[in-house]
Amino acid sequence: MWPAKPLKTNTHIVITGASGFIGSAFVAFFHEKGYTVSALARKPPSNRLAGVNYVHYDMGSIPDTRLFNKETILIHCAYSKTQTTTDTDSNSLAARHLLELAAQHTIKQCIFLSSLSAGSRSGTYYARQKKQLETLFAQANSTILRPGLVIGNGGLFYQTLTTIRKTRLLPITGGGQQPVYYISIKDLARITEDVILKQRTGTFYALNQPAIPFITFYKTVARSLSIPLRVVPVPIWLLKTAAIAYKVLPVKAKITSDNIKGLQNVPVPDPAVLRSSVFDFEFESLEDSLRNL
Ligand SMILES: NC(=O)c1ccc[n+]([C@@H]2O[C@H](COP(=O)([O-])OP(=O)(O)OC[C@H]3O[C@@H](n4cnc5c(N)ncnc54)[C@H](OP(=O)(O)O)[C@@H]3O)[C@@H](O)[C@H]2O)c1
Repeated sequence: MWPAKPLKTNTHIVITGASGFIGSAFVAFFHEKGYTVSALARKPPSNRLAGVNYVHYDMGSIPDTRLFNKETILIHCAYSKTQTTTDTDSNSLAARHLLELAAQHTIKQCIFLSSLSAGSRSGTYYARQKKQLETLFAQANSTILRPGLVIGNGGLFYQTLTTIRKTRLLPITGGGQQPVYYISIKDLARITEDVILKQRTGTFYALNQPAIPFITFYKTVARSLSIPLRVVPVPIWLLKTAAIAYKVLPVKAKITSDNIKGLQNVPVPDPAVLRSSVFDFEFESLEDSLRNL
């Protein structure tokens, strides 16, 4: 067991998924800004920040209730990628437990890290699940943030960048015209602080506009980071065949039918939600977001 230290009762930010890409960046950001921060994670990180309260947290169990009081701002970044067919999976379970505690202890604000994909027409498991989780958080008058692709040294963008660095290839489908909505990790943290300072509830996108076509986006990334890049058009039928093959092969699938659904129905923001997603500071350009990567 990895117990929480007793906390002072001043305002504090409680972040789940603190070992992950976004969670760990938020821990560093809010700590640096002088907030009292509790970082909830399954494993203690090797590079702990002095002054941050690290607490053991597994989504399958009830979090330490001492963290919840009227000064708490909860930012829920933990997300399990394991797919299940029941509604008692760890993501729904965690959401219910956290919201129950939030209500019992009348915490100040609850922020859920959703996604641009939530409820999109793609019909992927991820899109459906994020929408279900959003519904739970919305019923509790929470703040729901829907980031686009987050640019930083982790997450899906960084995985793609690592593959591009290794292979120097960019596979594209449909001429690579799919819109990419992105946000830098720094701007995502600033948006999160903004909704805290203004105590904004409701649903907000965190993304740059306009979107950039997929091929232009990755060509810009490659040029900015001096990566020689060769674009390789790949027909959808070939990806579908590969996805079927991966289903029967005893190896980790590099492409799934959900990936293909996502490619064919790229999420676009809901105009009504987009209208309220206005923040009074400028976001970083793509080139600036890529610095230090
Ligand atoms: N990255 C993006 O571009 C992006 C874009 C839009 C939305 N989002 C959303 O933002 C959230 C955070 O994303 P991320 O990129 O930071 O993902 P990540 O790096 O995979 O982090 C996920 C976090 O969840 C934790 N977690 C997973 N299963 C858990 C469990 N059973 N109990 C406790 N913790 C558990 C992980 O802990 P371990 O380290 O122990 O596995 C990790 O700390 C996700 O909801 C994601 O959908 C991300």
